[in-house]
Amino acid sequence: ERRLDPGIDSHTTLYAVIGDPVIQSKSPLMMNAAFRESGINGAYAAFHITPDKLEGFVTGVRAMGIRGVNVTIPHKLAVMELLDDIHPDAKAIGAVNTIVNDNGRLVGYNTDGIGYVRSLKEEAEPRLSGKKIVVLGAGGASRGIIYALLRENPREVVIANRTADKAYDLAKDLGGVEAGVAGIPYDALKDACSDADIVINTTSVGMFPHPGETPIPGAWLKPGAVASDLIYNPLKTEFLRQAEERGCRIHGGLGMFIYQGAYAFEYWTGVPAPVEVMKETVLATLG
Ligand code: ATR
Repeated sequence: ERRLDPGIDSHTTLYAVIGDPVIQSKSPLMMNAAFRESGINGAYAAFHITPDKLEGFVTGVRAMGIRGVNVTIPHKLAVMELLDDIHPDAKAIGAVNTIVNDNGRLVGYNTDGIGYVRSLKEEAEPRLSGKKIVVLGAGGASRGIIYALLRENPREVVIANRTADKAYDLAKDLGGVEAGVAGIPYDALKDACSDADIVINTTSVGMFPHPGETPIPGAWLKPGAVASDLIYNPLKTEFLRQAEERGCRIHGGLGMFIYQGAYAFEYWTGVPAPVEVMKETVLATLG
């Protein structure tokens, strides 16, 4: 039986999400539902922090003893130099999306990549080892995801990007062919997709307000392969719609959002995140 919600009182532990803008964030709803479900006396609010206020915000976190913070665009990089320590994975990825305040010591983590991989494994493909994975896009999101994917011992990860040099640079930066990751030119993409086990769209192509677009035709995919999209608005992108028509298994971006939050929740509280409740809460706002 669920505990009675005590409401906010003098024992409440505080949490925050910061961004510019932040009004669109689903994190407060999701995290407060998670605290309620877990019987934790916590409260999570959104703060619109412009870049010139970032340092002041971090001072405020220390002063007020805010226990945890989620960091979104455009602060994921800039916040790093204001913290006391950065987890080696977040350092390698070059971005922090979660801060844990341990008695005044602020530590930065990145849960985007591991959140994505946990979602992919639980919702689409439990075994990534030995798989050929094609990643479309070489931006910030792509970087965190590939970093986490390489931990799972795939056979190879191939990156294709409209601006090809960014794909080559990213592959090199993440260890190159020795680490199992390579950049390819965009015109080699069709061929690469034809025998890929998993194809992941990390570009913004197909995102609201352009839901009719797809980065590649679904017909390029191997039937039975997994098509994965980081976009969750719309829940089923045109890329996933075409992939499904082709006979692929599809995996949308909502799970990545849920699980990046689940890891943050677990780092802060030490309690397993109530993932189903978090998912239901966010889904209810998406319609
Ligand atoms: P994010 O943090 O979401 O990864 P980003 O770092 O701005 O955002 O990266 C956006 C990615 O989407 C890039 O790989 C970008 O390709 P370029 O490096 O060539 O710009 C890709 N992208 C955006 N619009 C695109 C389009 N119309 N066609 C193909 N790729 C596109």
